[in-house]
Amino acid sequence: MAREKWGTKLGFMLAAMGSAVGLGNIWRFSFVAGNNGGGAFLLLYLCFVILIGVPLLLAEVSIGRKAESDVIGSFQKLAPKTPWYLTGFFGIASAFLILSFYAVVAGWAIYYFWNYINGSFFTSPAAGYEGAFGQFISHTWQPIAWTALFMILTIVIVLSGVKKGIEAANRIFMPLLAVLLIVLAIFSLSLDGASEGLKFLFTPDWSALSQPSIYIAALGQAFFSLSLGMGAMLTYGSYLKKENKLPSATLGIGLMDTFFAVISGIVIFPAVFAFGIDPSSGPPLVFITLPSIFEQMPFGGFVGLIFFFALVLASLSSSVSILEVPTAYFMRALGWSRFKTSVLMGSIMFVMGIAVSLGFGVWSGVTPIGDLGILDSMDYIASNILLPLGGLSMALLVGWFFTKSQALEATDLTDSPVAGFWHFIVKFVAPILIVIIFLNATGLLSA
Ligand code: PHE
Ligand code: NA
Repeated sequence: MAREKWGTKLGFMLAAMGSAVGLGNIWRFSFVAGNNGGGAFLLLYLCFVILIGVPLLLAEVSIGRKAESDVIGSFQKLAPKTPWYLTGFFGIASAFLILSFYAVVAGWAIYYFWNYINGSFFTSPAAGYEGAFGQFISHTWQPIAWTALFMILTIVIVLSGVKKGIEAANRIFMPLLAVLLIVLAIFSLSLDGASEGLKFLFTPDWSALSQPSIYIAALGQAFFSLSLGMGAMLTYGSYLKKENKLPSATLGIGLMDTFFAVISGIVIFPAVFAFGIDPSSGPPLVFITLPSIFEQMPFGGFVGLIFFFALVLASLSSSVSILEVPTAYFMRALGWSRFKTSVLMGSIMFVMGIAVSLGFGVWSGVTPIGDLGILDSMDYIASNILLPLGGLSMALLVGWFFTKSQALEATDLTDSPVAGFWHFIVKFVAPILIVIIFLNATGLLSA
């Protein structure tokens, strides 16, 4: 059976932007920035997006387009008779880890959407938003039911196939989400105490840079947010036709994704300080902050309804790209149908998601890594370790295994003025930085 292709380059752009823009920009960006001191984190994050993220994004998409295969098959094709393909399993593993918690958090977002439909979050519930959210996520089966709903939606889109399912899902809601975030940012800036939030986000506390954990946190956030290192962008690239040019597309994806992250920081942090919420509240942060903003806003109930609807759709366009990674691989490797593969993979992820969800209730004492709970542990391994390792492998393939002219040809950079610069980054800067950040995080460099 012939592999599917995107209808148009715009179709690829929308799907890839849909993959990039999601909970990572709003939910994950806010709490990781909040945990890591705000300004200094933002600065590092932006540096990593520019220095490592966008150049590697181009490399990753180009691998997929050149090989026309999944995250493992592409390495097998381009570097045959080498063990390179084994690094593709980092991508498969991170897809399972990430989607199992992504679906839980997206389930929370659907629950919020529902509470704006029926009006119960228009004004603060008796326990306050923080209390109501805490009760909800610690409930045993309720959040699991919402996770299941989200997983089912994800599976249905993936099993309908690349063009019909994924390409069609994004056209209206990304622009809508952008407009809503801008409106929310303006409103959030008008709150009393907003300036403190802006100071937190935009004034780096330089002393924070002496902590090794902030580097790995910023690196992980750059990879997570750009959908980088897992093979999602590689797989999407493999559905591209050869004539579509890559550099402008990947730059556009990087800019768009960064815009969404910065603008949601401008929404969240003024409100965090205005409402006296702890910026290091962790994963619940935006779920406590956002309803407080909507409650103060004119027509806030309506805005909240639209916002969470758009957030759920943005999450869906990301989750389908994650499920597509193991689906594309196992379909080819085992010769299964798209239907069977996506249902099976999605179900396994859902079962893992049950553990994540229980981690906020009956299993809240379970801390697999240090003092990190189940979600944070899975996220740490996947986002901070596996994704950068996947990206490192791709950088080495394109930077060292390919000749320079092969690399430039694969990325459509042959006649570009930035060709030499890009190649230098992919060959030296990005790999070295990733290795240094890893060593630094393990404490090997501090001695
Ligand atoms: N980039 C997505 C987001 O920001 C999440 C994602 C990670 C998607 C890895 C694909 C691969 O929400
Ligand atoms: Na993102």
